[in-house]
Formats: sequence, C-alpha cells, structure tokens
Amino acid sequence: MTAMFTAAAGGTLSFPGGFVWGAATAAYQIEGAAGEDGRGMSIWDVFARTPGRVAGGHTGDVACDHYHRYRDDVRLMRELGLGAYRFSVAWPRIQPTGSGPVNAAGLDFYDRLVDELLAADVSPYVTLYHWDLPQPLEDRGGWTERDTAHRFADYARIVHDRLGDRVGTWITINEPWVVSVLGYGIGAHAPGRASWREAFQASHHLLLAHGLGARALRDAGAREIALTLNLAPVTTPGRLDDPEAALSAEDAAAVDLVDCLINRQFLDPVLRGEYLAAVLDVVERAAGLGHIRDGDLETVNQPLDLLGVNYYNPCVVSAEPGEPANPAYPGTEGIRFGDAYAPKTAMGWPIVPTGLTRLLVRLSRDYPQVGLLVTENGAAFEDTVSGEHVHDADRIAFLEGHLRAAHTAVDAGADLRGYLVWSLLDNFEWTEGYGKRFGIVHVDFATQRRLPKDSALWYRDVIRNNGLRAGRARRPTLEEVAARAGVSRSTVSRVINGEAAVSPEFRAVVMNAVTELGYVPNSAARSLVTRRTESIALIVPDGVRAGDPLFATAVDAAGRELERAGKRVTLMFAGSPADRNRVERHLAAGHVDGALLLPARGSDPLPGALAGTGVPVVSLGRPPAAVALPYAGTDDAGGAAAAVAHLLGRGRRRIATIRGPVDLAAARDRFDGYRNALRDAACRSADAVGDLGRASGAAAMRELLTADPSLDAVFVAGDLMAVGALHALREAGLRVPEDVAVVGFGDEEDAAYAVPALTTVRVPWADQVLAAVRLLLRQIGGGPSSSVILPTELVVRSSS
Ligand code: FCB
Repeated sequence: MTAMFTAAAGGTLSFPGGFVWGAATAAYQIEGAAGEDGRGMSIWDVFARTPGRVAGGHTGDVACDHYHRYRDDVRLMRELGLGAYRFSVAWPRIQPTGSGPVNAAGLDFYDRLVDELLAADVSPYVTLYHWDLPQPLEDRGGWTERDTAHRFADYARIVHDRLGDRVGTWITINEPWVVSVLGYGIGAHAPGRASWREAFQASHHLLLAHGLGARALRDAGAREIALTLNLAPVTTPGRLDDPEAALSAEDAAAVDLVDCLINRQFLDPVLRGEYLAAVLDVVERAAGLGHIRDGDLETVNQPLDLLGVNYYNPCVVSAEPGEPANPAYPGTEGIRFGDAYAPKTAMGWPIVPTGLTRLLVRLSRDYPQVGLLVTENGAAFEDTVSGEHVHDADRIAFLEGHLRAAHTAVDAGADLRGYLVWSLLDNFEWTEGYGKRFGIVHVDFATQRRLPKDSALWYRDVIRNNGLRAGRARRPTLEEVAARAGVSRSTVSRVINGEAAVSPEFRAVVMNAVTELGYVPNSAARSLVTRRTESIALIVPDGVRAGDPLFATAVDAAGRELERAGKRVTLMFAGSPADRNRVERHLAAGHVDGALLLPARGSDPLPGALAGTGVPVVSLGRPPAAVALPYAGTDDAGGAAAAVAHLLGRGRRRIATIRGPVDLAAARDRFDGYRNALRDAACRSADAVGDLGRASGAAAMRELLTADPSLDAVFVAGDLMAVGALHALREAGLRVPEDVAVVGFGDEEDAAYAVPALTTVRVPWADQVLAAVRLLLRQIGGGPSSSVILPTELVVRSSS
C-alpha cells in the first residue's frame, strides 16, 4: 500500500495519479429494447410484470432506451470527461436460453458500444452479471442449482471471446448478497423466492460462479478481474459518533455476526479461500452444508486484481435481548438494527460518508493483496427540473462528502484505484421503478431527453482537477437570492414562508431566483420573518396506539393550551416511510413554528430526522438514545421501583413482570426500574413482553404462569395489559390479590374500574403534555431547551 495523497497548491485535494473516474449503469436498468434482436427473457422481465412487485407496475421494457441511444449517451460521457464507464452485459441478449446457442445480434450491440466508448476515450468496464438471469435457467432452479455456476462460466467465456481484445476490466458478478438475500431469502427482488435454504445455496453458487468465471476469464487472457460486493461497515450507535467508544461484549458479538453475514460471507471465501465458522453456523442451521463441496473454496479463491466496492450506507446494530431476528439476516435474534440518525436520501438511506473511509481502510488492512475500486456510490434525491437545469445541491453534497471520505481513506493507506458514481442516468431502480432518480444526468422518461444535472457538471470539474476544490460545496445563500431577485432578504424570507402579504409580482421574481440558484430554504430564512406560521404540528410516529393515554391527552390538553397561545394544531401521522418524508419536508419547508412528537420507537428514524430540520421539536417522553431532542418525560424507572417495593412490602417474593415494547424508551425505563429494585432485594424475576394492549397482557400472563406456576405477584408496565393479566389470572382460577398480586402502570381510566380495582403507578399525563407545550413555546421564543422529568406516584388499590 502506498499513501499517495497530496494537498496541491491552491488548496485542492488531489487524488493519486492514474486514479480512475467514471460512472456506472446496469443493463436491465437502462437498455430497454427488451424484445429486440433476439433477446430472451430474464427473471427481472418476469418479476417486473408480476403485479405488486415493482412500484407503479414499472418494467425495464423501455427504460432509458439506451440500446438505441447509446451513441448519444457515450457522447455525454465524453463531454463529462469520464475515464471509465461500467456497464453490464445482459446475459439473455447473449444466450437467450441461458445456455447453448449464442445470439450474434446481442454480442454485436456490446461490440458497437465498446468501439464507441474507446473512440470517445472512455475505458469500458464490463460487469457480466447484474441480476438479469435468463428465465430458462431460473426455470431449472436458478442460483439454487450448482449447474448455473457452470453456465455462467460458459457465458463469461463467450463474452470475453468477443470483447476481450478491447475490454481490460471484467467484473464477474454484482452484489451476490443482494441477489441471494433479496432474490431468494425474502423475495423482494427477482426471482421473488422466500427460502433461507435456497438463499444460502444461491450465495454459494454465486461465489462458485465468480470463481469459475474468473478462472475462465484469466485463462482467456483477461487483464483485470474483479468482483463487486455491496459492503457496509457494521457499527453500533455509540461508535457511529465515536469510533473509539467502548463496546460491550454483547454489542461486539452483534457487530461481528452482522459483519459476517453482509461482508465476510463473501470477502473471506473470495480473498482467503475460507468461510468463517460463524458464517457456516448460520448457513448450516438454515440450509445444511450439502451444497458446499470439497474443492469449491479453492475455485472461489481465484487471484483477484480488484475488489469492487458498492457503498451506500453503514449498518448500525446493538445487542437487544428479546429483539426478533431481522428478516434479511437469519440468526440475528437479540440484535437490534438501528438508525444512523443522519440526513436521508430519497431512498431513506442515511448519509454517512465516514462509513466509506472506515470501509476502505478496513478492506486494505484485512485484504491487502487486492486493489479497491468504488464501483458504485451515489444517491437518489427528489430532483426538480427548472428550465434547463437540475439544481441537485443535495447530490453534489453527497458526492463531495463521499469523495472527501475516500480521500481520507487513501491518505490513511487504502489502496483505492478509482471511483465510479452510481449512476450516469436516472434509470429503472428495481422495485422502486422510475420513481427514484440516482442519475447525475436527468432522464425525461416521456421524451427520453437527457439533461446533465448540476452534479454532472460539478463531477466534470472534479475529473478535470483529479480532485476537489477545498471547502464544501456551498449552497446558495439567502443574500444571493435577494441580490438576484433585487429585493430585500426579508422579502425573500416572507415569500419562502408563504406569507400572503407579498404581491404576486414580487413572489414570482423571488421564486424565479430561488429555482435558478437552486436555493434550499433553511432555518435562517425562517427566523428572518417576524410573523410566524402560528402552526404547531403534533406528530404521531409509527406504533402509537389510539388508546395510548399520552396520545389522547396530547390531542386534548396540548390542543387547548396551544389554542390559548394563539396557535393552530395540525395532527400529522408519520407511520410509513412516505409519511415520514412528508412530515420531515413539511417541517423543513417552514410550514410550522414547532412540533410536539409522541413517543417513537428506538428504531424509528423520525426523531433523528426531525432533529435535523432546524425547527424546534419537543418530544413527549424520552426520545430514543442518540437523539438530542428536548423532552418532557416522567420518572418511569422510579415508579416501577416503587411498585416493586410495595409488592416486597406485602411479602411477595416471586415477582414477575410484563414489559412493554422493548424499543420504547418509557417501557425500558419501567423494566430497568423493576429489575434494579428486584436485584437489590435478591429476588427471582421472570418477564414476558406485551404490546401495551389488553390481549397481549393476557397472553403474557398465561406465558408467565406456565413458566412459573408459583409466582405470587406481577408488575405490569401498562394498565391495559394489567387488565388483560387480571383476565388471564381469573381464567386460571387464581385469586387477586390472595394468590397473585397485580400492579399496573399509568393510572389510566380502566384502572380504578377493574375488578379488583388496580393498584398502579400514576403518570401525570396532562402535566407532562403541558410541560412539553411550555418547553416548545419557550424554544420557539428563542429560550433555552432543557428537558423536564415529572414524578410518578404509586396508587394502592385492592389488586395488591
Ligand atoms: C445497487 C445496485 C444498483 C443500483 C443501486 C442503487 O445495489 O447494484 O443496480 O440499483 O443499488
């Protein structure tokens, strides 16, 4: 490894000499011409035509019509100065049935494309398999069949025979993890199967295909051979901010297992000729090991010139007892997949450029024999065409951030040889159809017109300079908009904030300047206006139940109090990703002065996203760890401890608990309070989990009674669940409190009317909501944003 970084005079960041700059695409995503010149069907043709599989029912039938427009597209590449273009060959164009007869017209197309590229001084980088398996091979078992790997090697040889004299760099397969897990494990991608046995067979056969293909290419004289993996640094929420943060043994084990599944399942066989025991363990449980034969690993472990790295975002995990396995990662029971609490792309993927640095440095450290090439990195955003421009400042910021991160990695010794942006063109984004635009060139799918976005022009400069200018890509300021429009800053601000007082003419002039410059309003623009929107959003995240007392009280008490303060309240539901996005945009666009947020689950990206909008937001209840939002909470742990002390005082010793959802901060606090109080008394404990509803309380109670028929008390983390527990106890013929004492939590309406009346921990719901409202109003007025925690109180009734 050599550290080749230089900070050139003039303050630019230069990449090593010979660094490859390019862009990437894939056949099914751009070519179209699905039924032309003898092309056969692929699994994506079939999958996309299956109703409900792809957003909007979109298919790749026409896509960017690149098959007919490749000359124009190559001209564009030349204008942008690309040094390399990574495209994929559609196997069904070459062998319509996946094996046997070769379709000459298919090969001719790539032959013409390669010549066109070379004439434009763009190096062709060929991916042989980017997901479009010929359907006839799928009909014979697809990647679950070992034979498919041999058919792939034949196909690789056929393509090399035709293009090998002009193509230097060969990428066998793109992202085997995605193919096997999304295609065969959970069925989100083609061919849409959902079987872990098949998924692990597929991963191994994809690796085998890579090995056989690489060997065939090498024998045929290929110059540079690569495999492209989707890789993600795996980390914990704590380590995201501070890579040196201490890691508990449990968290370290969680990180390790997930790293094995996403990264090392592929890296180690290919680059070390071995599967880690931890990987084999999971594979064996799901699929047995019968599909892995002697000698396979030697085949897989072919000498490799380049490792293609596709990086989009890191994976954040932590140990969480009781957490069910993530559907895409078998064997991950007890591991929580969390959020990176970073700004998101239109895909909802967190933007974490430092993840790329970590990844590249780690790869060069652990697998020093192979050079690295970023074969994909990029982002979808909601682009707007304004006249002849797409001012995609977000995408420029994304790319610049990641290039700086790549540069830092090079500086730290990573052997990075090049960077290919995903993608050259807006295209068919698999299950998202045409709705998600990753291109640096905009495509109008109705007219097929190409329009380079600002990011493309910016990238052209990066390529010319072999690096970046110092300083971040700057967004246009409010001052610049004002200057362009010839109005004052406060007029701009009023227009942006939708104030009616501005005349239509001024509004038009300002909006023109805004679109021309690609201005994105921020909190500075909002704070300039003296008159506010007088609107407050009450935001309901995923998982909040209609019967939640905090929800009911918030609507009631917050509504009244805010009305008194002259504000309107808008109720906004943010359960789905689309709704979350809408809420986030609503806030970011300055449509409200502030927001109250009902308790969100630990894995919910919403609190983090709202914290980034610059609008005052106060959380009702403690927000998930790692999100810095002021909040009005209650002493849940103290309340739970008081409940346990009360039960101990009544002579109870076998005190079980019914917990609330494990990723709800208040429920966790109640559990912690319970556990600590019991630990101090050196008593046994047992727990079951409920979802705060009555039925789940009854089910959890039955579970506890089966596990420990001799329990004599139960502390239930919510009154509704406690009512369910009373029901289950009655059903089991047990008397409350004689046989089993019950304490609930919340002092909700049902508590006093339960039979027997429920001992519970009173939560001052209305006070909590009022405290949150006051905090919010203070913050909107520019005051400090501290949090408050209100006391809870035990209310003893006859159930204990
Ligand atoms: C990668 C795929 C690529 C593109 C990007 C966004 O997983 O390889 O085709 O869809 O994601």
